[in-house]
Amino acid sequence: MNIVTISGSPSSSSRLAALLAFVHESLAASGLSVDWINVRELPAVDLVCGNANSAAIQQATERVRNADAVIVGTPVYKASYTGLLKTYLDLLPMHSFEGKVVLPLAIGGTQSHLLALDYALKPLLAVLGATHILRGVFALERHVVKKPDGSVELDNEIAERLSAALVELVADVYNMSRTVYAGGGTTS
Ligand SMILES: Cc1cc2nc3c(=O)[nH]c(=O)nc-3n(C[C@H](O)[C@H](O)[C@H](O)COP(=O)(O)O)c2cc1C
Repeated sequence: MNIVTISGSPSSSSRLAALLAFVHESLAASGLSVDWINVRELPAVDLVCGNANSAAIQQATERVRNADAVIVGTPVYKASYTGLLKTYLDLLPMHSFEGKVVLPLAIGGTQSHLLALDYALKPLLAVLGATHILRGVFALERHVVKKPDGSVELDNEIAERLSAALVELVADVYNMSRTVYAGGGTTS
């Protein structure tokens, strides 16, 4: 089972990165292979100028292609996903998320923008071919505590909600692969 996370935070001291680090550690502890696409590390000129064929973008796209599940994470910016995330998703080929389990993940400063997951991020995932989109996890800034020594800590509530979402994701990937096998077909 291959899982890839996509991080759409432009920040170098990102709270979203702390959530995704937890995701990676949890999945790796279960022996699962997890890949990471940090959009802020992709060449800015490729993202801004739409160079989908550059080597760096192609490598990232290959990771998405090989994944059974994709976890798409974004901070809420101006009541939506970040522009940075969109620059990368715009470069993905049509149907890139088809046949994959997709978990949306967002972090924001206010509960008022919880629905950004539903009205902004999920339609974007659907347009990329995702049909199996999990309910998603919305975290608040206060769930990711930055400590004076520079380290970060997740509170229990968000750790539990993330863990539950990962259990669901892994079970759904497993069930999808069994269904495909039972039908004798392939996902592509
Ligand atoms: C430019 C900008 C716009 C933001 N807009 C919103 C917003 O509309 N709603 C919200 O809940 N939080 C908003 N926030 C707060 C971020 O979502 C929050 O700080 C989040 O934890 C940032 O994640 P990061 O540290 O991974 O970048 C905004 C932050 C920035 C920098």
